[in-house]
Amino acid sequence: MQVAMIGAGYVGLVSAACFSEFGHTVICVDSDQTRVNALLEGQIPIFEPGLEELVVRNQERGSLSFTGDMPKAVQQADIVFIAVGTPSRRGDGHADLSFVFQAIQEVAAALQSDAIIVIKSTVPVGTVAKAEALAREVNGSIRIDVVSNPEFLREGSAVEDFMRPDRIVIGTNSEDAADVMRKLYRPHYLNETPMVVTNPESSELIKYAANAYLASRITFINEMADLCEQCGADVQTVAKGMGLDGRIGNKFLHAGPGYGGSCFPKDTRALVQTAKDYGVALNIVQAAVTVNEDRKLSMVEKIISSCGGDVRGKTIAILGVAFKPNTDDTRESPSLTIIQALQSKGAKIRVFDPKGRKMAEPEVGDAYWADDAYDAVTGADAVVIVTEWNEFRALDLVKLKALLKHPIMVDLRNIYQAEEMAASGFNYFSIGREPVYGASKQLLCA
Ligand code: UGA
Repeated sequence: MQVAMIGAGYVGLVSAACFSEFGHTVICVDSDQTRVNALLEGQIPIFEPGLEELVVRNQERGSLSFTGDMPKAVQQADIVFIAVGTPSRRGDGHADLSFVFQAIQEVAAALQSDAIIVIKSTVPVGTVAKAEALAREVNGSIRIDVVSNPEFLREGSAVEDFMRPDRIVIGTNSEDAADVMRKLYRPHYLNETPMVVTNPESSELIKYAANAYLASRITFINEMADLCEQCGADVQTVAKGMGLDGRIGNKFLHAGPGYGGSCFPKDTRALVQTAKDYGVALNIVQAAVTVNEDRKLSMVEKIISSCGGDVRGKTIAILGVAFKPNTDDTRESPSLTIIQALQSKGAKIRVFDPKGRKMAEPEVGDAYWADDAYDAVTGADAVVIVTEWNEFRALDLVKLKALLKHPIMVDLRNIYQAEEMAASGFNYFSIGREPVYGASKQLLCA
């Protein structure tokens, strides 16, 4: 099939590359000509494992191409995907749909024969219906069906998630459009990937409900971690014990510094606003939003108290600025909030992240960007692990201790064992577990 993908951002690019890998012919369109030119030369604007090979391979065999010429791309297409951004609207938390509607308008105007437009961008309930009305108003001479097909890709494993999804969700009232979508996803269909074919409203809500549920679940375990710290329980054991219940499962129960990224924060806020418009109070999701925001700042308090109650004039090494490992994305990363708050309390920051520097640098201000973890900790009063990159999981603790001014580690991802840290002579503070003092308690960054 001929597919046009509008938007060569994270979702558009991954989806375009994966559809072309399936054997479809995909033209990916972006209004940013510099981005298009870079892609034509095989340069990938984001870091996503496995993506570059896929893009280059399919470009070489002619099944994937890039252009800034949207009308030309959509005129040849059987299906046009909209994969443009839906950022939080300033002020009220609603999803900003201006890019989506602009794309619908331009695509509808360019189409010359009956077509299916598929919205992959995360959009609130009711958007597909509005988009379909808009498309038909702009171009009444042909039949345009607008379909909802949300994505469930995680940054860092997006290619794998696309190739082996848990499910595919398709929202349309048109049987013909549903058949075309089934054909498009034929490789998954043959693999017996569950397909939920439903109306557009249910499909749109599935996406938000899934993200809001996962965000609430993380928030739940984060609050349990706070309780564990006060009552002598260990949150990892609690999560394990809960997760072994088949009704609960063990995924997304890792306590940490709060969820971040380009999806959970914006989608939870938008869902609360959408529900308000319908007169419904989503108290659980609202609580997750508030608790998660507060959590990032409570992590700052934790770091400060681990350093003896004051960080003025002290140097803190931060390991990780990306919101999760295997991505260069630092949007709404807890690390940025933590760094900025520590700086405002008078701390000097030495920071390292394997991929996140470019995106984070403008937000971080006056900090020393280290070449690796050991460079970051050199001369620092304490080290804080904020992102669980694999390369931080097995640091040479003898070397680390020798390079630090004080052997203090705050591990916001629980990637070290408390006993091991104590035995290595560290004062070690983690999430939902009691602190251990391998060095003197009075050592706290004196
Ligand atoms: C999320 C969803 O997992 C995807 O299914 C969805 O498609 C995507 O949003 C989207 O809407 O586009 P993503 O934001 O890439 O994917 O990353 P996640 O792995 O879900 O992590 C989100 C945040 O939660 C990260 O800050 C991560 O550190 C945190 N997290 C995750 C925890 O603190 N604990 C956990 O147990 C899991």
